[in-house]
Amino acid sequence: MSDTWFSLTVDLPEDSKEALETALYDAGASGLEIRDREAPPMPGVRGPAAGEAIVVGWFATQEEAEGAAGMVAGEFTGARTQVDRLEPQDWSTSWRSLIKCVQVGRLWVGPPWDTDKAPADKVKLTIEPKMAFGTGDHPTTSLCLEAVDTYMGAHPGASVLDVGTGTAVLAIAAKKLGATRVVGLDNDVTSVELARENLEVNATPDIELSTKTLRHVQGTFDLVLANILANTLVELAPLIAPKVKDRLVLAGVLVHQRDEVMAAYEKQGLKPAGEKVHNEWIRLELQR
Ligand SMILES: C[S@@+](CC[C@H](N)C(=O)[O-])C[C@H]1O[C@@H](n2cnc3c(N)ncnc32)[C@H](O)[C@@H]1O
Repeated sequence: MSDTWFSLTVDLPEDSKEALETALYDAGASGLEIRDREAPPMPGVRGPAAGEAIVVGWFATQEEAEGAAGMVAGEFTGARTQVDRLEPQDWSTSWRSLIKCVQVGRLWVGPPWDTDKAPADKVKLTIEPKMAFGTGDHPTTSLCLEAVDTYMGAHPGASVLDVGTGTAVLAIAAKKLGATRVVGLDNDVTSVELARENLEVNATPDIELSTKTLRHVQGTFDLVLANILANTLVELAPLIAPKVKDRLVLAGVLVHQRDEVMAAYEKQGLKPAGEKVHNEWIRLELQR
């Protein structure tokens, strides 16, 4: 199906975001996209300025979008608005072009419709974008994939724990690169269901997936991965650190959050072992 839509993009102070969401729905928006600290934009999409959020409302008519823009200008101090016409496209498949396949070291990660693009010499992971995080093309995921590739190259047969596994992309990568025991945890039931589908598609059925908490996981692991947001990493430090036999890789951390996250894990007896920045994101590595 094709149709013409109109978007209203609003940049405004972050603390006015929730009031704006309600106001845009009241003004007839059919859906909203939020870009803020909790939901950073996809790569290639403009992000908010410091202290601000971007809210995009989708409207069926130009009149509605412009009417909403006028309402925002009158009611929300400091808001900047822009109305755009979205050319007709086939929405059922056009989103696919946003999903990029990635190559990181020995790994190739991409959606099912692109698997024929994978070079023959790469270890191929097929991850269908659904309602779980981790298609490979987010900087935090690719920073972790790189660390998995390097670690597994030096430690074939290592055991791996992936905390916040999402699609299980990191767990599958570790398994395909020769890991023995691999455990993936996520507190989101839907993510774990979708991760199970990915294990099947990637022929890595013996990865142990669970919504259990760290307290219920037996043993320690040579490599522990955790790509979660910084505040959760700080909170989980007393539970994650004891699981590390050798190396810990943390991501989901913005550059300005580095010191706080590093300190939480040093406090647990781990030593800094390297870091890498990609755009606003940083990967932190620690060693037992
Ligand atoms: C940024 S995604 C990372 C997904 C994947 N590991 C990757 O690197 O692309 C973070 C995941 O952590 C999960 N998560 C958040 N808080 C958690 C917690 N306290 N325990 C376990 N999983 C958590 C989320 O549901 C989400 O799937």
